[in-house]
Amino acid sequence: MVRLDKLLVDLGIGTRSEVKALLKKGLILVDGVRITKPETKVDENTVKIQYQGVEYSYTRYFYYLMNKPTGVITATEDKNDATVMDIFYKKYPDAPKGISPVGRLDKDTTGLLLLTNDGKLAHELLSPKKHVDKTYLVTMDGVLEAEDIYALEHGVHIGEGELTAPATVEYTSGETECLLTIHEGKFHQVKRMMHAVGRTVIRLHRVSFGPWKLDHMDLDIGDVVQIELS
Ligand code: URA
Repeated sequence: MVRLDKLLVDLGIGTRSEVKALLKKGLILVDGVRITKPETKVDENTVKIQYQGVEYSYTRYFYYLMNKPTGVITATEDKNDATVMDIFYKKYPDAPKGISPVGRLDKDTTGLLLLTNDGKLAHELLSPKKHVDKTYLVTMDGVLEAEDIYALEHGVHIGEGELTAPATVEYTSGETECLLTIHEGKFHQVKRMMHAVGRTVIRLHRVSFGPWKLDHMDLDIGDVVQIELS
């Protein structure tokens, strides 16, 4: 059960003060009944809201993209470190409970991170079977040779008996940066892949995750934005 005014805000009908004004004017029908008290408790899973002739049903899922900064860990809570959820709830204090990051970025990794309460989608995006693309801008301590690129693209042994699946490397000869696209999410995968070809990662920044791309968004480091899924 949730407060009616909160539900109306979540449905995108208006801000907290706007929906209170609409309620006061008797413009909102709740299961066919005119309700004016914002504190009325409703069952978000079954309630039908009507406003200006449009019927709204509750969207249970919320999606946000963060450009993760360094120094925070990708967890819902932690005793010692600040987490991505601390940043998230600072920006969206009224967001529903149950939002969590999809997958992990290391504490010193920056870039695109999806947060949602849609467990089914999170599961699908993380499933190794789905081969969701993740592209990282990797800054290294040196350059890559042609055989390093070949190895990264065809699979490298990263320890613990793990061999990586084919990946894509976009690289300009002589540079210490490359774009690496992987389709799996093994622990510290990019750092371990680079290590396998004798390079150390100096900076790691995820520029895309599945269909989402940072360069299509105006999202500074540390920012979070709510998105709609079509
Ligand atoms: N690979 C890594 O090594 N670290 C990350 O944060 C993400 C992918």
